[in-house]
Amino acid sequence: MGEVALAAKICHVPTIWMSEMIEGFEGIRQFAIDGLKEIGRRAEARGVDTFILCDTHWLVNQGFHVNGRDGWSGTFTSHELPHMLNGLEYDYSGDPELGDLIAEEGNAAGLKSRCHKMEGMNLEYGTLIPMRHANHFGAKVLPIAANQFSSVEENRIFGAAVRRAVEKSGRRVAFLASGSLSHEFAPNHISQEKLNDITDEFHRQVDLRVMQLWTEGQIEPFLRMLPTYVKLCQGEGAMADTSMLFGLLGWDQYRGKGEVICDYFPSSGTGQTIVEFPL
Ligand SMILES: [Fe+2]
Repeated sequence: MGEVALAAKICHVPTIWMSEMIEGFEGIRQFAIDGLKEIGRRAEARGVDTFILCDTHWLVNQGFHVNGRDGWSGTFTSHELPHMLNGLEYDYSGDPELGDLIAEEGNAAGLKSRCHKMEGMNLEYGTLIPMRHANHFGAKVLPIAANQFSSVEENRIFGAAVRRAVEKSGRRVAFLASGSLSHEFAPNHISQEKLNDITDEFHRQVDLRVMQLWTEGQIEPFLRMLPTYVKLCQGEGAMADTSMLFGLLGWDQYRGKGEVICDYFPSSGTGQTIVEFPL
């Protein structure tokens, strides 16, 4: 029987790439790089075969989608932020079999779900940046899209379907919710000065309260505030990743406490962190 061996909310901001690769920004996100490496170290130590990432940069408008190709290699430049992220080389194996199982379970749960294997279905940076630092041991990669018009409830159901698929698969899996906390990008005229700051203090304060609820194990009140949090704090990809993560964890039946792997930090106006949720 398969198992989810690690589950975490993670960050993927391009400033992580800048920290490593762009002159003048050296080391600005070293703590996030260290956090992603720690996720990788734990995944490898737990014998993880496959990273499943809900990637909030793979935005879809209808249904639920899994990228089940055999593998990908190439050079990535972001169409969203080409000045901040370009020339990222990658080479990963995929997990078509588990992708098919997830789509089957999603469909069985009443959600229109598809696993794709067509050429041209490439990786987005919500997958590529975390994998660059967390996957040094040749684990397979399986991205799930974030439907920007989906509801918290639909993502809860899909997350639970992912868990059932993993358990049927025989795989050991790390599930990574790859998306921000609050996600209001700083407006153009102050975008550069907000590189290391939050756009709206209200968002930072809500994000910090959310992290407090997570680390204290107060999951039920967090889930009750989640639909409003998504709206008021402009959740990235409708925070589909977060709802999916808690669906996978068991929703209000989850009794664990989040462990902060990377302290809260603002980036280009948005709120970011890495928190593992023990199973
Ligand atoms: Fe993002």
